[in-house]
Amino acid sequence: MTTRYLKAPFSSSSSANHNIRRPAAALLHLVCAAAVFSLIVFLIQSSFFTGGKLKPTLVNLHNKDDEIRILSDFQFSVQQCVANRGLGLTAHIIDHCKLVLKFPQGTNSTWYNEQFKIFEPLEYTYDVCEAILLWEQYRNMTTVLTREYLDARPDGWLDYAAKRIAQLGADKCYNRTLCEEHLNLLLPAKPPFHPRQFQTCAVVGNSGDLLKTEFGEEIDGHEAVIRDNEAPVNEKYAKYVGLKRDFRLVVRGAARNMVTILNGSTDEVLIIKSVTHRDFNAMIKGIPNPVYLFQGIVLRRGAKGTGMKSIELALSMCDIVDIYGFTVDPGYTEWTRYFSEPKKGHNPLQGRAYYQLLECLGVIRIHSPMRSKRKQDWSDVPSREMIQRAHVAALRLKRTLSGQGGLGQFGSCNVWGNAGSYSSGPVSGSPDMSYVRKNSNYSKWEVMPFNSLRKEAQDHFVQMDGVSLYKMDGNKLEDLVCVRHSLKSES
Ligand SMILES: *[C@@H]1O[C@H](CO)[C@@H](O)[C@H](O)[C@H]1NC(C)=O
Ligand SMILES: *[C@@H]1O[C@H](CO)[C@@H](O)[C@H](O)[C@H]1NC(C)=O
Ligand SMILES: *[C@@H]1O[C@H](CO)[C@@H](O)[C@H](O)[C@H]1NC(C)=O
Ligand SMILES: *[C@@H]1O[C@H](CO)[C@@H](O)[C@H](O)[C@H]1NC(C)=O
Ligand SMILES: *[C@@H]1O[C@H](CO)[C@@H](O)[C@H](O)[C@H]1NC(C)=O
Repeated sequence: MTTRYLKAPFSSSSSANHNIRRPAAALLHLVCAAAVFSLIVFLIQSSFFTGGKLKPTLVNLHNKDDEIRILSDFQFSVQQCVANRGLGLTAHIIDHCKLVLKFPQGTNSTWYNEQFKIFEPLEYTYDVCEAILLWEQYRNMTTVLTREYLDARPDGWLDYAAKRIAQLGADKCYNRTLCEEHLNLLLPAKPPFHPRQFQTCAVVGNSGDLLKTEFGEEIDGHEAVIRDNEAPVNEKYAKYVGLKRDFRLVVRGAARNMVTILNGSTDEVLIIKSVTHRDFNAMIKGIPNPVYLFQGIVLRRGAKGTGMKSIELALSMCDIVDIYGFTVDPGYTEWTRYFSEPKKGHNPLQGRAYYQLLECLGVIRIHSPMRSKRKQDWSDVPSREMIQRAHVAALRLKRTLSGQGGLGQFGSCNVWGNAGSYSSGPVSGSPDMSYVRKNSNYSKWEVMPFNSLRKEAQDHFVQMDGVSLYKMDGNKLEDLVCVRHSLKSES
């Protein structure tokens, strides 16, 4: 058993070859860490035999053993990745799921939490098994609100629809016609975007760091670029942030400026993060851009703020997600912005640690001034195959322990709906839209024929039996709304 774990740090990481000339002392450290860890794992495992509480069958025990080994190997790869890429952060393994990310001794924790009267901690504990389940799930998810979703949810129209409309004047949609009038404008019948639709996506935050590098061309080289709120895109900033504009996540407060911000771009898709209301709808009726509502979860842990929502959107459409202009380097005391005065920051250390974890789980790839020398070398991030193996192991372990849900790809579906033919259903819009909008291509993503999608997206749709997955509420993994489309009507 010991041998098995000793091997892990050297055999499992693709970076092993690059590190051959490391000093022997470092290797000794790893060997010691591995030995201590395997002892801990052994103790944990033996407690299953003696504890008697769980009374697992022999078959379960055998499976669990395999899963724990796969996840333990994975933990070592994540640890190695953090050591190589974390700019001073270190990962400390607690068991096959739990991991602590620590900032170096003497790190200046300057952000003060008024509520809890403490400075930000220098250590963060994560459950890697939960994190990998959550973020892999996003790769199969729909993150745009649709009519089929509201139809499938038992309380969809009465309760949930009302939550997406500000100043409705009622807590529920007692008058459904009224609610439809508010939502029709931004409510496609079916998902306008698909998992695996794009190969590469750039998510561009607004950090002032962007002015220290010239990532513009690199950003524009992505198949889709996702930006945030009022981020300006013009010649002045082109070499720093690029000119390509495909998606923009906006909070509703930005409605008043939206026409100015769009500055003549007609194709950029607006995704509203929270709720719509009269002013926003009036603005939408006058512009040619596609506009939809975000459908996703409220993240209570991890990094806060709008950046995470952009990453969720990106993962639901893209194979590879590159992030630029996020505050992920050491030394932040305030949030700078590339186009305006700095704002007061919040949770810089917590955010930085969480983004580093996400990079080492293969969710995002971080680009920043302190990392620009490394450029496009991702060999020390666990491979896609390894992440998928770890995902399967985490899922099996969770299902074995809880005894809930099936192991299949629909094991997390709590509510089922049927959308019939994939291509049927009304296009978003309302009768009183301006001439400009009516005669634009605002609905082009909604009406795009299935067979014009990228092959990977089509294959995914078939592998999923034509089922779209949506989040219900909160951060629960097993709380999906699943809507089945007829596969036949597409071919
Ligand atoms: C820590 O930050 C505070 C406030 O920015 C500063 O006054 C202090 O000199 C810093 N200490 C170190 C060791 O960097
Ligand atoms: C995601 O979709 C793929 C098919 O493309 C499927 O094999 C896999 O099980 C799904 N994963 C999750 C977490 O739903
Ligand atoms: C429901 O809303 C529609 C649209 O605003 C309105 O025409 C209708 O009178 C309302 N019905 C009731 C019963 O209030
Ligand atoms: C608006 O677009 C024009 C033409 O592309 C450009 O010259 C101008 O700088 C832009 N204005 C802003 C505020 O981005
Ligand atoms: C809409 O898209 C079609 C096909 O791409 C194109 O021929 C047409 O010119 C576009 N119309 C407008 C107003 O952009």
